[in-house]
Amino acid sequence: MALLSPSMLSSNFFNLENDVRNLEKAKVDMLHLDVMDGVFVPNISFAFPVIKAIRKNTDLTLDVHLMITEPHRYIKKFAPISDYLGFHFEAGSPIAETLNEIRELGCKPCLTIKPCTEPEEIFPFLHLCDMVLVMSVEPGFGGQKFMPDSLRKVKILKEEITRRGLDVLIEIDGGINEETAPLAVEAGVDVIVAGSYIFAENMEQRVKKIKAL
Ligand code: DX5
Ligand code: ZN
Repeated sequence: MALLSPSMLSSNFFNLENDVRNLEKAKVDMLHLDVMDGVFVPNISFAFPVIKAIRKNTDLTLDVHLMITEPHRYIKKFAPISDYLGFHFEAGSPIAETLNEIRELGCKPCLTIKPCTEPEEIFPFLHLCDMVLVMSVEPGFGGQKFMPDSLRKVKILKEEITRRGLDVLIEIDGGINEETAPLAVEAGVDVIVAGSYIFAENMEQRVKKIKAL
């Protein structure tokens, strides 16, 4: 069974409480929170006050996806409001040091790769991660088309994680719907992020469908 982490980027910010309560009822596994700085990605989203408000009001696991440059400068501020805390391999931070700092601060470290990065590049850091995130779109916006090359990367990562006997989850993010989710799970994905698909309509049914994979 796949774990589901709905991306709150597609939620109704005018009634966030309603969306969070519905996701709790539908028994999602985590909430995925996309932080964008307008520099690492061309878009700007939300950060501390919004995540803090969610943290204060739900027991769901929070899966924070930083799409910001030099994320190491902000780890101390995000750690108290995150469970999984992820940053990009390409974002200009010292990788091992940042992963270690996340763990020291009591969070689960997650290393994320953009479509331009090959999975082998993060092999040296896998033992420091609780999760790796493979982007299946260019980060920055919800509602984009799934890039099938991400499945090849998932397979390579899965093989390496299994070969080394590591306990690292593989997450996929971008363009996930009922057609692409089964392909992702088949390739070895453990955690599915889905934004526009989950929030478009029939949230409860769609959550069930993905979690059953
Ligand atoms: C994109 C974000 C995603 C986004 C996914 O940069 O990282 O989490 O919300 O949205 P969908 O599922 O609509 O592609
Ligand atoms: Zn994301």
